[in-house]
Amino acid sequence: MRVTVIGSGYVGLVAGACLAETGNHVVCADRDPGKIAGLNKGVLPIYEPGLAPLVARNAAAGRLQFSTDVDDAVRHGDVIFIAVGTPPGEDGSADLQHVLDVATTIGRHLDRFKVVVTKSTVPVGTAEKVRTAIRAVTSGDFAVASNPEFLKEGAAIDDFMKPDRVVLGVDDPRAEELLRELYSPFVRSGSPILFMDIPSAEVTKYAANAMLATRISFMNQIADLCERVGADVFAVRQGIASDSRIGSAFLFPGPGYGGSCFPKDVKALVHTARGAGMAPDLFEAVESVNDRQKQVMFNKLQQLVGDVSGKRIAVWGLAFKAGTDDMRESPAVSLVEALLAAGATVHAHDPEAMTVARGIWGDRVRFANDPYAAVDGADALCVVTEWLVYRTPDFARVKALLRAPVIVDGRNLYEPGRLVRLGFRYAGIGRPATHPEHSEGPPGKRGGSV
Ligand SMILES: NC(=O)c1ccc[n+]([C@@H]2O[C@H](COP(=O)([O-])OP(=O)(O)OC[C@H]3O[C@@H](n4cnc5c(N)ncnc54)[C@H](O)[C@@H]3O)[C@@H](O)[C@H]2O)c1
Repeated sequence: MRVTVIGSGYVGLVAGACLAETGNHVVCADRDPGKIAGLNKGVLPIYEPGLAPLVARNAAAGRLQFSTDVDDAVRHGDVIFIAVGTPPGEDGSADLQHVLDVATTIGRHLDRFKVVVTKSTVPVGTAEKVRTAIRAVTSGDFAVASNPEFLKEGAAIDDFMKPDRVVLGVDDPRAEELLRELYSPFVRSGSPILFMDIPSAEVTKYAANAMLATRISFMNQIADLCERVGADVFAVRQGIASDSRIGSAFLFPGPGYGGSCFPKDVKALVHTARGAGMAPDLFEAVESVNDRQKQVMFNKLQQLVGDVSGKRIAVWGLAFKAGTDDMRESPAVSLVEALLAAGATVHAHDPEAMTVARGIWGDRVRFANDPYAAVDGADALCVVTEWLVYRTPDFARVKALLRAPVIVDGRNLYEPGRLVRLGFRYAGIGRPATHPEHSEGPPGKRGGSV
């Protein structure tokens, strides 16, 4: 099938490469000439495990092409995916400017029947707006459809190739037939293709992200309670996750959710709900708990070291989660900004995100080539991202390099009692180091956690 993907970011590039891998002839278009020039030379604009060889293989086979010529790309595809960004507007609503610009371009170059699919995360009613924008400039034949994307950065290829489900909002049998054919190679192991009406598909994406964000904020609030009452969120999580009605996914407390999706999608859902005349109090609470959570690491650090002004703080992990170089809304950004505002100097390390981070902070932050260099001479270490490389560090070396043995562990990567025994002053999230199983010292001297 001839497929066009407009917008070659995380979603568009992954979708384009995976659709090419199943034999389609895909053109990925983007208005960013630097991105396309890089892709044509085999340089990917993002880090995503497994994506580089997939792109290289399909480009070499001639099934995957990159272009800045959006008009021409529109003429290429029988199915056109819109995968451009939908950043939050000032009022929190999703900004549809890029989506609707692309829709108009599609209308202008419609030369035969095509299915126009919104893959960007867009509020309910957007497919209708896309239809209207296309119809305003053409009398040609087309169908619109909604196909929200559920991939996770860091596991995007696997998620696209082996989805839990494919959601397709359609209202035209020709669209249903083409999209069923396009997606059938990805659901051979039995995952469903869920056809539904277009508004339901649009709401499904927001409902999924809001549910996941809710679980994170819920656990962060339970972690706060655990700290205050002397419970251990690690045990509590196990205690609830073993309940099959609850399950174990997305129950890890941490430094707050970030990334390009949850924060903006919860905001947009609040806006949509208000516009529909309802009080979105639950969604608002999810967001405000998260905003507060993003200050938690800074607060814990201050409790351990006092005023950070003039202190040097090592930060391990800048990406909003492991497996990506995406720093959009990363909790590390909140932490580093708070440190800089308070007069601290920051020495940071991340296995993949330092190029992106340099673009944000330039020389306001020192970047270290390895985790131990970041720690050398620092007054404390903050671990923000759960990269594997940070999971079992040489603690003796870390302690020797630090000026003071202080660790704030935003991901609960380390066992509190062990860290305290090794002589660190340690704070995790929702885990008192004074718990008897976590320390061999006598009660009252175990201490260390805040
Ligand atoms: N990143 C994720 O994990 C993820 C997952 C699911 C859904 N989504 C949704 O998918 C959409 C895209 O997200 P992303 O992370 O890939 O964004 P991104 O910012 O990485 O990529 C968007 C791309 O669209 C291009 N673009 C913008 N306007 C254009 C235009 N008029 N013509 C051509 N190209 C244009 C930009 O240059 C950019 O390269 C968003 O709605 C997002 O919410 C993202």
